[in-house]
Parts: sequence; C-alpha cells; structure tokens
Amino acid sequence: MLVVAHRGASHNCPENTVLAFEQALVEGADGIELDVHLHKSGELIVCHDHYIDRISSLDGDLNDFTLKQLQQIALPQNQHISLLSEILRRINGRCIVNIELKTADCDKNTLARLCRVLEQTLYEATTSFNFKPKQLIVSSFNHPLIGYLANKISDFPVSPLTASCPLSLSGFATKLNASGLHVTIDCLNKEIVDDAKKNGLYVWVYTVDRAQDIERCYALGVDAIITNTPASTIQELKII
Ligand code: G3P
Ligand code: CA
Repeated sequence: MLVVAHRGASHNCPENTVLAFEQALVEGADGIELDVHLHKSGELIVCHDHYIDRISSLDGDLNDFTLKQLQQIALPQNQHISLLSEILRRINGRCIVNIELKTADCDKNTLARLCRVLEQTLYEATTSFNFKPKQLIVSSFNHPLIGYLANKISDFPVSPLTASCPLSLSGFATKLNASGLHVTIDCLNKEIVDDAKKNGLYVWVYTVDRAQDIERCYALGVDAIITNTPASTIQELKII
C-alpha cells in the first residue's frame, strides 16, 4: 500500500509548499498530494483554498491578486506559493504526484483553458522532467471535469474524488472513463474496494492518519492512503 503525503508532510510543514513536499520524501513517502487552481493569469498554482486568508494575513480570492502578488506572500518557514510546473520540475520524477484540481463548476472556455494548460504541464513533466505518465495522477471532486480529462489526457490516470460511497461508485467511475477512485476513509467499506478491483479500478483513501484506519485500509487491499503524517504512517505499516 502506497503512502501519499497530503499537501506534503503537512503535519509539521506549511501545506502545499516545497518544504512540505521535500519533507515528505525525507520521511519516505511514495507520493505527494497537492491542490491546484487555475489562476486568471492562465497559470496553475498550488494552493488549497480559493481564499487567501487562512494561510496569510491578506484577505480575498486568489484571483483578486496578480500572480506576482501571490508568489510574494511570505508563508511560514520562508515558503511561498508555487506554480505546479515549478513543483514538478523540483520533484523531477522522484515520487508520485497526485494533482487535485480544485476548479469548481466553470464555463466551457475556462474548462478548455484548464485542460490545455494541464495537458501542457503534464507532457512537459514527462518529456523535460523525469516523470512517467503513471506517476502523475489527477483527481477532483468536479466529476464532469474528470470525465472530460479522462478522454483528453488518457495517458495519465484520472480519478473522481468522493466524500460519499454509494454502491454504484465503480460503475460511475467506469462511465467517466476514470482509472480509479479516491474515497474518504469515513465511508470506506469492503464492497467499495472489492467492486473497484473487479472493475479494474485502483482505490486511494483520504485522509488516513490514525493507526486503526491505516490497518483497516491495509486489510481491505487499498492501493494508496493519503496522510498528513507520512513518517508515522510508514512506521505503523511496518508493524502490521
Ligand atoms: O485528495 C484528497 C483530499 O486532499 C481532499 O480533501 O480538502 O484536503 O483537499 P482536501
Ligand atoms: Ca487535496
């Protein structure tokens, strides 16, 4: 079972920063998960929230600021907001990268722009940097977006993220042409995992920090867990 660091090693580093991603690798994570928004500049930026107030002393939507202003925000431990392309250049194939697209419902033009820039970024990562397509996994709660991407960037695994687990989940993912499922630990069960496997889908589970949840995921045959605490999760897995 793979261990993927949620927003990097976010338990002791500022989330979604170079420091958090590098720390995840030091702790032995197999992958990192990061959150991405399409900024009005046309760039993909790595940040969890639409609003900037939780991680900075500023107030407002990401698009109220220029890219330069966002990049100049001083985050703790001398960190700053990065472009997705900068993070991919830096990681350079050393681990799996799960790119969570935070884009909510958007118009056709925005959707097309997002797909274009994502496609360019992913192909650059496999041609100019050291990534294999299977190392770059795109997920989103925006399921129409996942369906669209599954056909546009078919070399790369894409998966719908869900916070609920209806029994028809695998059928839903298959209809989207997705390669797997990213489900919350809160509704994980044996049927979901077995059904996914039967349909050739991988199962990733978020956010898994507690020993009992790590054990349950392992016992069910989950493919990867997304955790805030890679070091202790890896330790826990060694004693199961
Ligand atoms: O990718 C799973 C998880 O990151 C989704 O929740 O809010 O932490 O992005 P959130
Ligand atoms: Ca996320």
